[in-house]
Amino acid sequence: MTAGMMQVGATLVERRVVGAVQELRLQQPRLAARLTAGQPVLVRTGWGMVPYLRRPFYPIAITADSWVVRLPADGDPGHAWLRTVPEGTELDCLGPIGLGFRLPDGTRRVLCLGEGEAAWSLLPLVVEADALAMAVTLAVAAITRREAIPAARLPPAVEYRLIPRDESHGPEQLEDTWGELLPWADVVMAAGSVPFYRRLVEAIRVHRLLLRPGFAQVLYPTTFLCGTGACLACVADVAGGRRRVCRRGPVFDLTEVVETG
Ligand code: FES
Repeated sequence: MTAGMMQVGATLVERRVVGAVQELRLQQPRLAARLTAGQPVLVRTGWGMVPYLRRPFYPIAITADSWVVRLPADGDPGHAWLRTVPEGTELDCLGPIGLGFRLPDGTRRVLCLGEGEAAWSLLPLVVEADALAMAVTLAVAAITRREAIPAARLPPAVEYRLIPRDESHGPEQLEDTWGELLPWADVVMAAGSVPFYRRLVEAIRVHRLLLRPGFAQVLYPTTFLCGTGACLACVADVAGGRRRVCRRGPVFDLTEVVETG
């Protein structure tokens, strides 16, 4: 187990049904106090002792004593189990996993870029940056409107650009906003796919000429089983070699994820 990580019981204190998705609030003050945006918590999703019963969840909200996760409406048996456990259940949690997003000292303008469902993992960061009086723009390419973050979930001062990708929307792409937004930003925080990050590197080169380390942090998309570095399920080509994302990430500098040479 890495420094700062803990295995604890967290109480399911609230279940909100939002369309086909459930949002679960888990209460555990010691873990909540260590949790930052971009750090998953692995939740045991069954009563048995079978290894790797855990599922990773990125917090979409963090308070002093609790955090909220989104439970997708998919066919995963672990998610199905979580959909049925009653409020008050104590869930075995392992986390926080690895390194999350870090707002550098002196930052004034934060550009958060999200792609699809992954954009939700940026929400605690958006709230944190706004609370620190930073100017925040959140630009999201949603695959469907159901995945889209409602504007009401954001602090009022946050500028929100939502580009849904469905048949009712025009041809505008998230990338169409980058010429305006990238020169404005002091830092970029992104959550999406690796191809999305490759397009981001190209756009930074066009609109800022230079991609310097420290300008952009990105959440690497991968699978976590153990969260402790033992199973190798999360190994990926990042930071100059084959790395365990649960130990070195999951948030990396953009220059560590996309070859920039
Ligand atoms: S999740 Fe097992 S090594 Fe990273």
